[in-house]
Amino acid sequence: MTQRTLVILKPDAVRRGLIGEIIGRIERKAGWTVPALELRTLDQETLETHYGEHKGKPFYEPLMGFMASGPVVVLVVEGERVIEGVRQLAGPTDPIAAAPGSIRGDFGTITRENLIHASDSEESAERELKLFFPSL
Ligand code: TYD
Ligand code: MG
Repeated sequence: MTQRTLVILKPDAVRRGLIGEIIGRIERKAGWTVPALELRTLDQETLETHYGEHKGKPFYEPLMGFMASGPVVVLVVEGERVIEGVRQLAGPTDPIAAAPGSIRGDFGTITRENLIHASDSEESAERELKLFFPSL
């Protein structure tokens, strides 16, 4: 089942020089490709649309501030079961709960700065791909 998913390497990943490490893990998965990739600073409107489901939660405002705190890398990953697959590579939201070997488990300590976003379902992937790469 070939899919596409939207991935964001968050400002902490860019600041800490972990882009190559993280993209390397994605690229090494057999048959997965990266048809689009861009360094971008996300504006408030895009972030509000992207994280709309979390509006009103206690972590929402700090999350918005963090996500706008520096450039991110947005990329599309394509291949067999990439939606579930990139979420597996990333690990759970809380990096302390994430197993070593996962991106969040290997490099993260606090939930807000957990390095990577990846679409969590086919519906989210479709919505997020349209938001970040409307011409693709
Ligand atoms: P969520 O969609 O629950 O996690 P995921 O990124 O694994 O899909 O939350 C979105 C982001 O919000 C999450 O990556 C980090 C941040 N966040 C917090 O800062 N505190 C929290 O308690 C939660 C649940 C998320
Ligand atoms: Mg999510």
